Amino acid sequence: MHCLKKITNDLIWVGANDRRLAMFEGVYSVPNGVSYNSYLLTDEKTVLFGTVDKAVQQRFLENVTEALGGRTLDYLIVQHMEPDHSAGFLDILRLYPDMKVVCSAKILAFIKQFYDIDIDARVSIVKEGDTLNTGKHNLHFVMAPMVHWPEVMVVYDSTDKILFSADAFGCFGALNGAIFADEVDFSRDYMDEARRYYTNIVGKYGPQVEALLKKASALEINMICPLHGFVWRKEIEKIIAKYTCWSSYEPEKNGVMIAYASVYGNTENAAEILASRLRDKGIKAVMFDVSVTPASEILAAAFKWSHLVFASTTYNAGIFVKMEELLNDLVSHNIQKRTVAIIENGSWVATSGGLIREKLEECKDITFIDNMLSIKSSLKKAQLTEIDLMAEALITSFPDALKEMPKSSLNNVVSDGSIDPKTMFKLSYGLFVLTAKDDEKENGCITNTAIQITQNPLRISVALNKANFTHDMLVRTKEFNVSVLTESATFDIFERFGFKSGRDTDKFTTYNTDARTMNGIRYLPEHTNAVISAKITEIINCDTHSLFIADVVEAFSLSGGKSLTYQYYFDNIKPKQQSQPKPLISLKDVQEKRKGFICKICSHVYEGDTLSADYVCPICKRGSEDFEPV
Ligand code: FEO
Repeated sequence: MHCLKKITNDLIWVGANDRRLAMFEGVYSVPNGVSYNSYLLTDEKTVLFGTVDKAVQQRFLENVTEALGGRTLDYLIVQHMEPDHSAGFLDILRLYPDMKVVCSAKILAFIKQFYDIDIDARVSIVKEGDTLNTGKHNLHFVMAPMVHWPEVMVVYDSTDKILFSADAFGCFGALNGAIFADEVDFSRDYMDEARRYYTNIVGKYGPQVEALLKKASALEINMICPLHGFVWRKEIEKIIAKYTCWSSYEPEKNGVMIAYASVYGNTENAAEILASRLRDKGIKAVMFDVSVTPASEILAAAFKWSHLVFASTTYNAGIFVKMEELLNDLVSHNIQKRTVAIIENGSWVATSGGLIREKLEECKDITFIDNMLSIKSSLKKAQLTEIDLMAEALITSFPDALKEMPKSSLNNVVSDGSIDPKTMFKLSYGLFVLTAKDDEKENGCITNTAIQITQNPLRISVALNKANFTHDMLVRTKEFNVSVLTESATFDIFERFGFKSGRDTDKFTTYNTDARTMNGIRYLPEHTNAVISAKITEIINCDTHSLFIADVVEAFSLSGGKSLTYQYYFDNIKPKQQSQPKPLISLKDVQEKRKGFICKICSHVYEGDTLSADYVCPICKRGSEDFEPV
């Protein structure tokens, strides 16, 4: 029986899921299955985008028949000839004898390689920039060689602004009844599989993926329809940001991945002690036994983490077989831009360390930690110092901003899109930096109005003065971050984010870290104990202010520092009178001759007997509630 998913009014998913496949491409375990996506466009002409793997052929043909609703098929667009997307090719040719095949010359050559058929009369060859009008829709053909095979072609529907992205933006995992990425908790449940899919399938071809991203950046994209995994219709920038990072080989997170090969546990012991030392210093470490964890998972982790440690016993006078396989995989996937440390072990002669280094020297931009640890059978007490030195050398190579952060913040410093409910405990009647970004600008302001309003769904509110530049950004973009300040906050944070308007200045120009959450918005990694990302669901007009109601989409703690309260700010952070920003009129004048009100935030003085409720400080844009009589 057919099982269709509606994508738009005239686009239907006609693919299928396979949960019985043990090894995708014979190499990659897929414990959660995989989807083979095919899409049918039912315009004045009908267009099928690709077919599927032979394992799900029957369901696919039922789907196509049902989705056509008695119509014939006019076009089959072939984007990629790998058999998991082309096994249904001959069946579709046979079932729809008047159908035209639309493909590039390269794809046609691949069709003839796979199938011994004379097909030229039925083929319409397209090249970069060609278009096909199907009635309402205009389809544009864009070549994407090596994402993942040389013949790959993506298609852009400029009518509905849909990118049919072939293997790009795909993901392992069956769809489980959903079709859109926003129907599931993608960050929590699928991002690791998206990374594993990308790094293993396309990871070798970073520059080619960058070329495709560059072409895509010129397009307005409302939806991405890949050949595996979910369709993206919301937060497309989230997956594009990941692809931008992965294709550049830049590490996604700061931390140490330790892969070890240990026959009797002694090499593992050294690796474990190193991980423990790193954790003691607040550096996140993850460990993989190469004999247990599939190489595809370790490869994905190597793309994720900034620092890599390889610990291997010597085996057959070389590197332990499973470690050697992993290293070969890393080299062939072009891993680069990493800091690497090596531990070797050998009961006769330890050779694995030098051989590991030799292999990784084939990769670009690898920085080796010089003091390799060499073990003879087992680690000795005297060698603990060497482990300490290795840990120290690794830590020294981390970015300064990370090293200076409080130890407790380091384990959680990196945004991963999940929600830690305990984060809400950090919200008090305190002071926060609220950050936002739109296409043109990144901005932030000080606020004291972030509060939790419901637990389920987890929802917060913030009130912002309408004169505030960030207010307008929130109205436009509907999303923001709240960084919860701690008592360690310094006055310059308030000067930067509180005393100037984003209209006139770029508050992040000289800001020295670029920490961002999954929504791409900056947060403050220092002098803060928690970060909350939220998506606005409602804006309530409150005269001078707007009250933004927002769902929490990500939340994590950064440190155990005490949340900063308004009172603490006045008592301990705000400079006393002599070093405050100069009031626009002399405070002395006001006190001696005139009445007025002083802004508690920036010390601007309003001269007059009364202060209207809708008065807004011209310096820091705070409302009348933040003024007190002089
Ligand atoms: Fe899913 Fe490159 O094929």
